[in-house]
Amino acid sequence: MSKLLVLNGSVIPSEKSNSHEMARIFLEEYKQANPNDEIITLDLNKLIVGTKTLTTETFSTYWSDEEGMKYINQLKEIDKLLIIAPMYNFHVSGMLKNYIDHVALANQTFSYKYSTKGASIGLLDKLKVQILATQGAPKGWYPWGDHVAYLKGTWEFLGAKVSDPILLAGVKVEPLGSQTPNQIVSTISEEIKKAAKAF
Ligand SMILES: Cc1cc2nc3c(=O)[nH]c(=O)nc-3n(C[C@H](O)[C@H](O)[C@H](O)COP(=O)(O)O)c2cc1C
Repeated sequence: MSKLLVLNGSVIPSEKSNSHEMARIFLEEYKQANPNDEIITLDLNKLIVGTKTLTTETFSTYWSDEEGMKYINQLKEIDKLLIIAPMYNFHVSGMLKNYIDHVALANQTFSYKYSTKGASIGLLDKLKVQILATQGAPKGWYPWGDHVAYLKGTWEFLGAKVSDPILLAGVKVEPLGSQTPNQIVSTISEEIKKAAKAF
């Protein structure tokens, strides 16, 4: 039995959210293939780990047992991570960045200790990651903003094995722009189901 953690990095209410619709399809398929797995959800909208930004004021408590360390330990206990990641202003949500700021910690999730020539090693080497991403613009519109590359690179840096990310792009322009999340996501549901079965 594996443990799967779902991270909600969307600010859109679930019933109106494209990325949540992707996650619903993914998890339905995943549960069929892995009926005994434990699924844990973190809604970053509602948790300090998602809403607290690293500042001079918060620095001293940021990696305390109740904050960063709690979620770092959780990442060491789980087997798989599903990340719901829409683009906001050319990047992941501030909440998802806050979460990563809490868990990307030297000597806990990565280390320079055993490295040579400035490289590092990731310490989350048992973790598998699947990214479900959305963006309003078609893929490649912003050469300076690639939130999927940022996420994939970050989790690989931390040692995780990242499956091919699924990006649903162009949701704010036609032909998708005028459709419901259900209709929009149906255009890639087969890809989502395939990834869920293989995860
Ligand atoms: C505040 C805000 C900022 C956004 N910024 C961008 C952006 O910079 N680039 C882009 O392609 N889409 C942008 N979008 C569109 C969202 O990525 C898209 O609508 C996404 O599907 C919203 O999240 P959801 O998938 O949970 O529905 C933005 C949406 C909102 C609400």
